[in-house]
Amino acid sequence: MYGKEIEKVLISGEQIEARAKEMAEQISKDYNGEPILVVGILRGASIFLADLFKNLKGYNVELDFMSLSSYGAGTSSSGEVKMIKDLTEPIDGKNVLIVEDIIDTGITLTYLMKVLQARNPKSVKLCSLLDKPSRRKVELKGDYVGFEIPDCFVVGYGLDYAEKFRNLPDVCILAKEVYEN
Ligand code: IMP
Ligand code: MG
Repeated sequence: MYGKEIEKVLISGEQIEARAKEMAEQISKDYNGEPILVVGILRGASIFLADLFKNLKGYNVELDFMSLSSYGAGTSSSGEVKMIKDLTEPIDGKNVLIVEDIIDTGITLTYLMKVLQARNPKSVKLCSLLDKPSRRKVELKGDYVGFEIPDCFVVGYGLDYAEKFRNLPDVCILAKEVYEN
């Protein structure tokens, strides 16, 4: 199905959809009817966010977006985080649930948690489709994690390499030849 750019499928789209549904059920149970403001982190989280969001229960679920960047065109974080798009609404007193595609070094989300905590929300929790715990440079734990994965560079289901491959319907391991040399 895929060409030589893709080493293999790591997690299929079907597996992700099923897991997103499970996670949404857990989240709905934990918040127990309390209002939630879901904050999707553009652009990588958008595909997973849709799976998760439509399975959250109740009428008290808001949605907003932020865009951050910590990458050039490479495969590891520059360590410097830029806010490209801020939230549309204030978050004071709200239960914020950040939805991200992947926790890698943890630098991006540690920065984001600090920025959001300073705005006096009622709570801030973190939900991520993927987690690469072996790559962490700062201590950070996701409250809801879809899948722990090994230290490999993945693309698809929203995740990119140099803005490409986001459209692949599965999370795939990118062939090393694509980013080496
Ligand atoms: P962190 O600050 O190192 O945790 O970087 C998190 C961000 O890096 C994510 O939001 C992704 O955009 C990107 N990232 C980290 N690992 C991968 C990967 O394997 N594939 C695609 N993007 C990744
Ligand atoms: Mg991202």
